[in-house]
Amino acid sequence: MPNSTTSTTSAASILEKCVQFTRADEIKAQGLYPYFKPISESEDTVVVIEGKRRIMLGSNNYLGLTHHPKVLEAAARALHRYGSGCTGSRFLNGSLDLHVQLEGALAEFVGKEDCIVFSTGYGANLGLISGLVGRGEKVFLDKLDHACIVDGAKLSFGETDRFNHGDLATLERLLQRADPGKGKLVVVDGVYSMEGDIADVPGLLRLCRKYGAALAVDDAHALGVLGPNGEGTGAHFGLQDDVDIIAGTFSKSLASVGGFVAAPERVINYLRHHSRPFIFTAALPPANTAGVLAALEVLQVEPERRERLWKNARRLQEGLRSLGYSIGSTETPIVPVLVGPLDRTMVMWRNMFDAGVFTNPVVPPAVPTSQCRLRTSVMATHTEEQIDFCLDAFARIGRELGAI
Ligand SMILES: Cc1ncc(COP(=O)(O)O)c(C=O)c1O
Repeated sequence: MPNSTTSTTSAASILEKCVQFTRADEIKAQGLYPYFKPISESEDTVVVIEGKRRIMLGSNNYLGLTHHPKVLEAAARALHRYGSGCTGSRFLNGSLDLHVQLEGALAEFVGKEDCIVFSTGYGANLGLISGLVGRGEKVFLDKLDHACIVDGAKLSFGETDRFNHGDLATLERLLQRADPGKGKLVVVDGVYSMEGDIADVPGLLRLCRKYGAALAVDDAHALGVLGPNGEGTGAHFGLQDDVDIIAGTFSKSLASVGGFVAAPERVINYLRHHSRPFIFTAALPPANTAGVLAALEVLQVEPERRERLWKNARRLQEGLRSLGYSIGSTETPIVPVLVGPLDRTMVMWRNMFDAGVFTNPVVPPAVPTSQCRLRTSVMATHTEEQIDFCLDAFARIGRELGAI
């Protein structure tokens, strides 16, 4: 039997790293800590933080649907009809007719046979990959894939190979080396969340077909943004039918929380019965489900929102470039402002915040040390005046800090 001294020592050792972790406190002491800022009011493009109105230039609310009257009404109606939560798994007591409707509507919208809805976008990728990739099978990931794709691969019983961002030559070598008789899945982000560039779906499909792999595209940042009607990355290239599996989230264009996987009926049926992140968690709440259904409809009947989004994206991209900023290889409404060193990025974030513009600093380990950035993203509902206000702040602060 361990005595009480031994057990105290071992508990202390697992907790010791928490005591040693002081980096966040040091940054807070300098007044530069940018995370967990509570928003006390939100009017779509403008939020109140620390008592001051600020332009939201760092959301994923691409179409500005979080405050759309139809979305709010649908959510409120569902809240009163079904209550505040499902209190259980889809598998057991938590399935609503609303979930089934949403699955049908999403499958139709993205042009796949069937769909399942998860309680988060994170869970959708986790559940897709861990549910599908079994022992002896392989999953191939781009090194800039979202963390939930990486975690899905870790949770699966298969093996994982990773290739440098967009490096299809390396992907081909990895596919060549894999056992031709074993299942293979390639998973990429359709639009990369920190760079704003678009996956080379035609190139990926060519390799997948050649080596008998299935392609899954996470369209978190592409749904509502890319494609003739906002159907996503495959549609952007005219290849939607060829993409085997589409994953997505409701926390961006669809203005809520939750996620989905759309694929052939047999694949979805398999996931419904094998995906642990789908089965062992509570279902998406009624108000969210109804809100997403309404948002999906608005997305289709108000295409002018997507046009405005792209107009705003071009205004911000061109404005930043003409000021002398590097915005990398972005092709979408995600516009990273490459600042460089960590210290300058944090000061720049703080100065922009004080000037009334909310952006997201992205620092290691998310990006290499010398490539720190402020991630900005536009919404369809930003006005030209709001974008110009942000550009003026970037001009003034960038010059003061010697960033441009
Ligand atoms: C590419 C990508 N996939 C998945 C997710 C996870 O989605 P959610 O935040 O809705 O769980 C995100 C979220 O940031 C993302 O950027």
